[in-house]
Amino acid sequence: MPHTYNILNHIPADVACLDDYSRYAREHLPDSFWHYINGAGADGISKQRNRQCFADIVLKPLVLSGVQLPDTTCSLFSQQPFKEHHSQPFMLAPVAYQKLCHPDGEIATAQAASAQDVAMVLSTLSSQPLKDVAAFKGAAAQWFQLYIQVEPSATFDLIKKAELAGYSALVITVDALINGLRNAEQRSGFCLPEHISAINIADYQQPTAQSLAQCLAQAPSWQTIKEIKAQTKLPIILKGILSVADALKAQQLGVAGIVVSNHGGRVLDTVASPIEQIAAIRHAVGDDFTLLLDSGIRRGSDIFKALALGANSVLIGRPLMYSLASAGPLGVAHMIRILKDELAFTMAMCGCNNLAEITQDCLQNK
Ligand code: FNR
Ligand code: LAC
Repeated sequence: MPHTYNILNHIPADVACLDDYSRYAREHLPDSFWHYINGAGADGISKQRNRQCFADIVLKPLVLSGVQLPDTTCSLFSQQPFKEHHSQPFMLAPVAYQKLCHPDGEIATAQAASAQDVAMVLSTLSSQPLKDVAAFKGAAAQWFQLYIQVEPSATFDLIKKAELAGYSALVITVDALINGLRNAEQRSGFCLPEHISAINIADYQQPTAQSLAQCLAQAPSWQTIKEIKAQTKLPIILKGILSVADALKAQQLGVAGIVVSNHGGRVLDTVASPIEQIAAIRHAVGDDFTLLLDSGIRRGSDIFKALALGANSVLIGRPLMYSLASAGPLGVAHMIRILKDELAFTMAMCGCNNLAEITQDCLQNK
């Protein structure tokens, strides 16, 4: 039975921050959808840790600094032929099946991102055709997130389609070769409704493997990344790296950047939080390698902290779904606007005129 959407056509007056949207989403979404979106691996310890780690970082304000309106423009891949300028050092993360939240799904998100001039990453598991989403691209970039398919020909076909549609980078997710064991989602009996599917990969063979051994036998490797790199002109970003050793391997392989991420705590539980790892990874890879970070960003001050510790930009996951489910594209645009305002406020209070001035010196305890 198709579910009915319950979406406000205005911005709720009592939404002041991103977490307020999760309260609305809890009320607006069917129970099992909520548990899929909000869910985390096993006991949700990494998901909680992601928030706690941000809370534990202490800002160092700078008074009477004379900062005017801070400049948030952000340049990525600066040492590569792929140079991009973003109006903000944050973008919308790849999040599967956005029709769970809104009948227009990823198209609604693309409209909001474009209206706010913020970049987005479209998931392989998009519930809208990648070409249709690309049609709503404004001035801001759209990147495509790749889940490597069982058959190499399918992977290359998907990449070709993303290139043709105008996506400007390929984000290959490497930390979720196997779906996380999300216990709350399992208990809720979540399954996709009939009218929502991963429409862009419908024609490809899907893994039949059910056992861990079968999944692992089909899993991609560093060699697979090398082969993909040889086949595409797009810059490649590996998403889901948490250690210095893996970051260095990625850099040596010649990818354009990485996303330091624990997938929002949705896969393996009790791993490190990206914000704890980013400084060591930045130190290891040097200044010129593009580092993104996600998992637990809910405030402009979180973005500021990630940048202070070495990220070039960050991704926003669950709040995108919460705001989409609450107030559609208007909600997503509002969510983005809140982050912009909070980031500019934090920069002003810490005496930063631009992103280059956000350094570890802006933090008390680092
Ligand atoms: C995700 N994420 C994700 N990542 C990815 O590479 N491909 C995908 O299809 C999805 N799908 C997805 C669905 C849902 C419902 C969620 C919540 C997340 C992970 C996402 O890109 C990002 O890494 C995390 O969401 C970041 O953490 P926060 O911001 O949710 O705390
Ligand atoms: C998730 C997968 C789709 O986190 O990446 O739900």
